[in-house]
Amino acid sequence: MQDTSILDFEFEAHANPVAETDRAALLANPGFGKIFTDHMAVIRYSVDKGWHDARVQPRAPLQIDPACAVLHYAQEIFEGLKAYRLPDGGAALFRADANARRFAESAERLAMPPLPAALFRELIRALVRADRDWIPEGDGASLYLRPFMFASETFLGVRPAHEYLYIVIASPAGAYFKGGAPSVTLWTSDHYTRAAPGGTGAAKCGGNYAASLVAQAEAIEKGCDQVVFLDAVENRFVEELGGMNVFFVFEDGSIQTPPLGGTILPGITRESLITLARDAGVSVREERYSMEQWQADAASGKLREAFACGTAAVVTPIGRVRGRDFDFAIGNGGPGMLTEKLREQLTSIQRGTAADPHGWVDRLF
Ligand code: PLP
Ligand code: COI
Repeated sequence: MQDTSILDFEFEAHANPVAETDRAALLANPGFGKIFTDHMAVIRYSVDKGWHDARVQPRAPLQIDPACAVLHYAQEIFEGLKAYRLPDGGAALFRADANARRFAESAERLAMPPLPAALFRELIRALVRADRDWIPEGDGASLYLRPFMFASETFLGVRPAHEYLYIVIASPAGAYFKGGAPSVTLWTSDHYTRAAPGGTGAAKCGGNYAASLVAQAEAIEKGCDQVVFLDAVENRFVEELGGMNVFFVFEDGSIQTPPLGGTILPGITRESLITLARDAGVSVREERYSMEQWQADAASGKLREAFACGTAAVVTPIGRVRGRDFDFAIGNGGPGMLTEKLREQLTSIQRGTAADPHGWVDRLF
């Protein structure tokens, strides 16, 4: 493997960065995915040269040829992680190593060159340091980082490309759901599925999200916030939402989440919550759960809470689930106790206000 420890980063500072007062106004109410920092980090790959030309430079539109491979065959993957302000004014990333691993796995599934973890991490760190003044302060606020990689070769043949661009952009973020959403309502898609066995469900590739949009649009049309997908084989078992994993909380205090099996995204929030719950002595099952069972358990009171989780959504209670011929509430329709406790534990570690027994917090400065 190429020795990447010797790669030097070029740094080109933005000649006209956003003025401090304008930045403060943007950071006061950032929303999600709407505003961006001054710089971006970039590295190129070619079959001949390997990884090369690493730089942090002013964020600017890309120029790509209309025959650029990604525009035709969608060889593209991405990640999502956050930098948080710490109480002492410093900042930290949360579990960037886990994102690096998943990015390499996504790359392999999409026949792309895996970016070495050290480069993944160092390019992110270099960007956040350059744009450190863009990390918002306050509860629920963070700097959302979006590393992505795409086939940049100008070529229309159908084969893995010979050239790639890896880029990291950063976007100050508040709550993912408008108004912070105390709980969300799900629409059960019985027509569209997200991923089939042998497909790309476990990879974080743009194509999965493109395929989910029509189902998400159906959810919105039905007055719901998010779509929940069922398995593609039996159309019975709960898999995940369009951009979040899902958990169920039972009356005996145990929790359950669908198992990883190639068709759902191995969420880092999911894995962190399983670890925190087990640390607290909560019994956690990674087992399939059918929509009929969910409905029956909600009706009988056996199921007390349900929540969705992910980097963007953090931990969001599920208040109601609807489908073509059912509509049921969960608990009292609001946030449940264990859901709140897990959310609080996770976010306290991320923000540096609680101990970090698993070494998840990676200080930047
Ligand atoms: N499932 C999907 C489809 C997602 O897009 C995400 C978000 O990244 C997740 C689950 C949660 O993953 P993570 O917790 O790593 O953000
Ligand atoms: C994330 O939580 O980072 C996601 O990628 C979900 C969504 C914004 C695509």
